[in-house]
Amino acid sequence: MPPEASNLSLEKAELPTPSADDKLPMALFGASGYGTFHLNALFSLEKKGLIELAAVADPAISRLEEVRANLEEHHVPWYEEPGRLFQQERKIKAVSIAAPIPWHEGLCRAALEQDLYVFLEKPPVPLIQQWDSLLRLDASRRIAVAFQNIASLPIQTLKHWCVEGRLGKIETIRITAAWPRKTKYYERNSWAGKLHLGDVPVFDGPATNALAHVLHDAMFLASPQPSGFAVPLEVKAELYRARPIESYDTCCLRALLEGGIELTAALTHACEETSPYKIVVTGSRGKAWISADGTRLENNQGWPDIEEPSAQYRSRCYENFILYALGRRPRPDTFFADTRGYVLLTNGMILSSGAIHTIPTAYKSVVDAGQEASYAIAGVLPLLQTTLEQGLLFSEQGVPWAVGCQMQSVRQLSSLSLKSCLPALL
Ligand SMILES: NC(=O)c1ccc[n+]([C@@H]2O[C@H](COP(=O)([O-])OP(=O)(O)OC[C@H]3O[C@@H](n4cnc5c(N)ncnc54)[C@H](O)[C@@H]3O)[C@@H](O)[C@H]2O)c1
Repeated sequence: MPPEASNLSLEKAELPTPSADDKLPMALFGASGYGTFHLNALFSLEKKGLIELAAVADPAISRLEEVRANLEEHHVPWYEEPGRLFQQERKIKAVSIAAPIPWHEGLCRAALEQDLYVFLEKPPVPLIQQWDSLLRLDASRRIAVAFQNIASLPIQTLKHWCVEGRLGKIETIRITAAWPRKTKYYERNSWAGKLHLGDVPVFDGPATNALAHVLHDAMFLASPQPSGFAVPLEVKAELYRARPIESYDTCCLRALLEGGIELTAALTHACEETSPYKIVVTGSRGKAWISADGTRLENNQGWPDIEEPSAQYRSRCYENFILYALGRRPRPDTFFADTRGYVLLTNGMILSSGAIHTIPTAYKSVVDAGQEASYAIAGVLPLLQTTLEQGLLFSEQGVPWAVGCQMQSVRQLSSLSLKSCLPALL
């Protein structure tokens, strides 16, 4: 029998009621884009008596009229310079970082220098050397990463099945997703579609931004420890661009994870239609899969499906961090230290691919519609389906534009540069 949802320790009823004097004074970095979700979440957490929103910083705040009005109505001071917030707001105990990827490392360093707790948006930092150096500063485990799926009932239940051995020995994890992204997505800021912003690494792309969750989910599911995350040993990957961007918009990978599990994934933004992500876990005794973009768990054992809307687990993940920072929970869903597998995997991907390969014009369609313009690789959805069913990379499926790659060991990986992958001319 599968475990009932109520057997998992996710029930809010189990959590202690906060008292008025143990609210967490918090600041937010990044108030528009995904920062909008954070701002709303922080106001709700304030209403619940868990935090006090003490200040907000955003370099673009002078343009964010509605945000400013909202903050002023709630008597929340705002700053244009993130550094000034750190200097002035000495009573804060925690920060949420919803700023863009290139600023994650610097903001985390500034927060750790003041012994603050940090709720850091995913992905943590682009490169393993940045990750190693932040980990050294995070000895007291103050950073949690906002990989919200880890708090979801479907993922928690599947993890439980894997750890308990209900599916037998886990052999493979296969993932696919097609999330179209139009020109407006790439033009919404200065860093979208970039490998570097000046000298600062970005490494934007499906596996390293929008769909980063699914790879981190795989690391969670692959570890036999109840709260553990696996690390990869070897990675093979192919990175492609259909759109004229610096970084990639399509990728596939196969990795050997610690414990012998084979992970395969194919992800793209260069598609016309959406195909929600699917994570299929196959064990020696059965198969179960996360579908509908993470909101449903299904299986071939006749156990009931388990569903949860994403808004619910996104909020739970936030609350779990706050309770951790208040000392009322032993851990958040993802410690910074838990993201090593994810960072090694994505770093191994670019090393294995060696370059980002441009898909020739003959194999893609371009719908030129200004901000709505899209680039789609011909036949990409069937390619993804074959990866899901057979675990094959694109170059192993006989596609004319695909380029084979080298197996990359990531056991000893401690540094890499994205500069060698910058295209000479797009
Ligand atoms: N958890 C999720 O499901 C999810 C979803 C979307 C985005 N994200 C993550 O959220 C982060 C932000 O992404 P986005 O697309 O909203 O970015 P964005 O470019 O829209 O920026 C968000 C906000 O941060 C502000 N900002 C820029 N530099 C800043 C700095 N140094 N300090 C403070 N604020 C700064 C911007 O002005 C903007 O208002 C990324 O890490 C992204 O991966 C997470």
